Amino acid sequence: MLALIVLAVAALVYGAPIHILHTTDVHSWVDAHPHNSTLNADLGSFVSFSERFRTMALGDGDDVLMFDTGDFIQGTGFSDASEIVGQYAYDVTTNLAYDALTAGNHDISVDDSVDYMVDTFIPHWGNTFVTTNIYKILTFGTTNIYKVH
Ligand SMILES: *[C@@H]1O[C@H](CO)[C@@H](O)[C@H](O)[C@H]1NC(C)=O
Repeated sequence: MLALIVLAVAALVYGAPIHILHTTDVHSWVDAHPHNSTLNADLGSFVSFSERFRTMALGDGDDVLMFDTGDFIQGTGFSDASEIVGQYAYDVTTNLAYDALTAGNHDISVDDSVDYMVDTFIPHWGNTFVTTNIYKILTFGTTNIYKVH
């Protein structure tokens, strides 16, 4: 709701159309669906599309905001191909130019994945990564303990 209000105010103040590209629940599905031409676009296709779309929109004086609302990992073997569950999925996601993104429940379900997200993925995004409810409360030996509200 807050996001809609912010966007509505931005549109009124800004005066130019704002296009929103929103992804969610990618679940490490970075490959295409070659058996179905309707779904035969991979993550690279989306990177290309989003870059071209933004360039065209900005050229027209419009703006583009791109969001992801989490669940980057789990769902395909690509998520399990790395020693840390989802590491490759997080790494390839950094090729996208999100204006804001957050974690989903799957992103906080495996300790090593949370550590990788906290130590590597979130620092890549800086203030673009939005969350207020994931806290590292203590380190116990080699295990970090997180609390999610
Ligand atoms: C391809 O995917 C679309 C979207 O999910 C679906 O509607 C369609 O039935 C699928 N086609 C085949 C041949 O599976």
